[in-house]
Amino acid sequence: MGTKRAPTEVNGFARSLFRDLPSRYDTLAYLLSFGQDRRWRRAVVDRITAAHPKKVLDVACGPAGVTLAIAAACDAEIVGIDLTEDMLREGLSNVRAAGASDRIKLAIARAEELPFGDGTFDAISFSYLMRYVDDPATTIGELARCLAPGGTIACLEFHVPRWAPAHAVWWLYTRVGLPIAGGLSGGRAWYRVGRFLGPNISNHYLRHPVGAHVAAWRAAGLQDVRIKPMSFGGGLIMWATRAAGA
Ligand SMILES: C[S@@+](CC[C@H](N)C(=O)[O-])C[C@H]1O[C@@H](n2cnc3c(N)ncnc32)[C@H](O)[C@@H]1O
Repeated sequence: MGTKRAPTEVNGFARSLFRDLPSRYDTLAYLLSFGQDRRWRRAVVDRITAAHPKKVLDVACGPAGVTLAIAAACDAEIVGIDLTEDMLREGLSNVRAAGASDRIKLAIARAEELPFGDGTFDAISFSYLMRYVDDPATTIGELARCLAPGGTIACLEFHVPRWAPAHAVWWLYTRVGLPIAGGLSGGRAWYRVGRFLGPNISNHYLRHPVGAHVAAWRAAGLQDVRIKPMSFGGGLIMWATRAAGA
């Protein structure tokens, strides 16, 4: 197991942010991303299933959308973990509704301190996680610890489009459209997320540019680190394998 790391203020913030979102999370995430979220998830699922894994960990699984998509695309056993109880409860109900309880187990845990032994999983996925941890480099180290040598890791995050016209549209949407659309479609909790998201994404990449993420993955013993911007750079897929001797 990794070194003991106490829950942080950021963990408390994430829990409070996500507590009221579960029931309509998947629908609103789809609508508010103009349908792009499903394409991005698909790209992550494809990376994971291409490795033909037998045992997969989906970190920050939320209501288990990605977890279920992986289960539908391969015959692996999957463990989903998340920090927020309400998200997991919704995930549990979605897993049951899909008849996938025999292959998917969900548990409360923090990405910073996973309750699994070294090399337990031969594939690990995570989506929209690193903006909610204090130290992405340490967290990717903890994820890599649980990945077997030769195993695959893949993730999905929002990003900031670089091309000026796309950036202008993205900025206007995240600063103005998203809070309004969130509030109108999901009420107070989604207005709060809508206001939070754009500045949070921008600030995250000011503190942790993509190059720093790539360096952290390599330092964690991950090799062939690849990145793929999606939807003009509004999304970003990253994937890699754990070096055989790491
Ligand atoms: C935007 S949601 C994404 C959920 C899911 N991955 C998806 O794409 O549908 C982010 C999730 O990360 C979880 N989370 C935030 N910080 C975490 C941490 N340190 N460890 C585990 N889960 C965390 C939240 O509880 C929330 O469910």
